[in-house]
Amino acid sequence: MDYEAELQTAQGAIMAAADLDALEALRLAYLGKAGSISALLKTLGAMSPDERQTTGPRIHALREGVAGALASRKAALEGAALEARLAAEEVDLTLPAPASQRGSIHPVSQVMEELAEIFADLGFAVATGPEIEDGWHNFTALNMPESHPARAMHDTFYFAERTETGEELLLRTHTSPVQIRAMQATGGTQPLRIIAPGRVYRSDSDATHTPMFHQVEGLVIGEGIHLGHLKWTLETFLRAFFERDDIVLRLRPSYFPFTEPSVEVDVGYASTGGRRVVGGNGDDAGHGWMELLGSGMVNRRVLTAGGYDPDRWQGFAFGLGVDRLAMLKYGMDDLR
Ligand code: PHE
Repeated sequence: MDYEAELQTAQGAIMAAADLDALEALRLAYLGKAGSISALLKTLGAMSPDERQTTGPRIHALREGVAGALASRKAALEGAALEARLAAEEVDLTLPAPASQRGSIHPVSQVMEELAEIFADLGFAVATGPEIEDGWHNFTALNMPESHPARAMHDTFYFAERTETGEELLLRTHTSPVQIRAMQATGGTQPLRIIAPGRVYRSDSDATHTPMFHQVEGLVIGEGIHLGHLKWTLETFLRAFFERDDIVLRLRPSYFPFTEPSVEVDVGYASTGGRRVVGGNGDDAGHGWMELLGSGMVNRRVLTAGGYDPDRWQGFAFGLGVDRLAMLKYGMDDLR
């Protein structure tokens, strides 16, 4: 038998196999259980040792050659199949995509950004402090000693742990502790102009109160600062914020432990169609006053706690509710 010619014929057939099915059929025909080369291999057993010595290697060479040809044709066919698939499977960019929900900036975040921008124009930097505060910064340094009613368990969220120095830990009830932190950071040697926006927490929850809400604190420290500066700053800010020139403020005497004197600031509004629109004198017909924020001249004790000499430095501070401001500006009537 001419094994060489046999191999060439087989190689020719294998190279001509058009697809993987045809190739598999050829593999079975040659190397399968009943394949022709398998049959040749079986004849080896019946041969004489001499014959086997000469014929054996030829049959094995034939089998190796056929197996090699099958493997290389298989690789070629598989490569071609992949190429064909890649060419056929295009991504159709004209197909309409499933609609996705678009987010938008939360009114509170938006108002906080607006506030920061307006106050930046007035030379205020943004300061921050921790939401988990200690009792000294949140209360004591702000002239609210241990016995102050605002420190009661039912008003404030306390932690079971205390600081290393034994101070109680709590969720800050206002942004005022940032006043203390900002003052301490200068060492009592420089004027200050900061706002501190952030989350604050109080233990109440009803239609008009949520346990977490947002405040912006303002603090100005300088030499010769007085209430007129406070009023001008708030007026200028509110005109820019509500985008109207007819903002009228009413300052009422009030009390906060950390300011002296303390002033509650109301803004005039008009009632139109059941909605309150900020602007105008609250005493005019169809108008009213709305409480907007708490403020005052920084108490001497607070200046001292912050490291400032109260005989040389004065300051004013204010704290306003961001959620309230957002509702007013964007005409929402439910805090939730
Ligand atoms: N911290 C006060 C509050 O939360 C607001 C305030 C800030 C009042 C600064 C005066 C000065 O109610």
